[in-house]
Amino acid sequence: MKTVKIHFILVCLSVFVLFSCNEKKEQKIEQTVNVEPEMVLDLVDLQTKNKLGKDTVVTVINDPVYHKTKKYRAVSALLLVKNEIDLSKIDIKNTKIIFECIDGYKPEMPLELFLKAKPFLAFKDVDAPKGTNWEKIVKNGNEMDANPFYLVYTSISTDNQEYKWPYNLIKIHLEPLNKSIKELFPSNNKKVEVGYNLFQKQCITCHAINGIGGTMGPELNYPKSVTEYWKEKELVDYIVDPASFRNKVKMPTLGITKQESQEIVDYLKYMSEHRKVNSN
Ligand code: HEC
Repeated sequence: MKTVKIHFILVCLSVFVLFSCNEKKEQKIEQTVNVEPEMVLDLVDLQTKNKLGKDTVVTVINDPVYHKTKKYRAVSALLLVKNEIDLSKIDIKNTKIIFECIDGYKPEMPLELFLKAKPFLAFKDVDAPKGTNWEKIVKNGNEMDANPFYLVYTSISTDNQEYKWPYNLIKIHLEPLNKSIKELFPSNNKKVEVGYNLFQKQCITCHAINGIGGTMGPELNYPKSVTEYWKEKELVDYIVDPASFRNKVKMPTLGITKQESQEIVDYLKYMSEHRKVNSN
């Protein structure tokens, strides 16, 4: 009788231990999901609330936008990000920083690179003509300025293509590095991987697929894919040389070859069969 009782107690105990272990495991899984950052810093809002931090004057030698040495009033973008976001909760190696600009341009780079540099958020150009905040930028014959923010570095060579210098900057987003990879990678067709890589490198800053990417140019896949309403040959030629199709075209000539353009179109055709919306 006694041994039966002991057995019963042992069984109960082990069941209890099993359950509590499972509980812990589940909690752990939930935690790592929660830590995935999807964070946004609204810079204009932070400025209104006086939360940008202390300002200083920085000198940028050979500024890549103005093509000369410039001085700006700026705050430390590094301190700002550190103040607003608890970086100890973030898997820095697997996170990217995305810069959202007024016109929908969305360049991005690994967060790790950003944290290694001395990034500054410039809000006023010291050399601006009286009564204005910025000297004009002239690009393709159009005049514009860098308002409200321009991201600059004092420790990075302007030839370093890995670093982005967005102006008209309004928001900073942190996202898992693999988000667009997971959603847009052609996982069941190896042949279109070349086109996928080209798209990630050359196009996604301005164009979204399934809602992921920039909004300066039109979304290319949802609800209709460009491959459905453009003739394929024309589409390939357009991507190589947009100005040969449209007067005053906003899309730049990127210097890609016809062959590369065909690879991109093949990828776009593949994505037309993998359509869905992601809110972004
Ligand atoms: C700097 C931003 C920018 C980049 C980079 C860019 N585009 Fe564009 N693209 C635009 C804009 C803006 C338009 C809208 C048409 C215009 O230029 O007036 C456009 C138009 C298009 C169109 C026509 C869409 C339609 O519905 O008529 C296609 C297709 C296209 N782009 C493909 C690409 C591909 C592929 C790449 C990469 C190789 C790319 N673009 C890179 C900005 C960009």
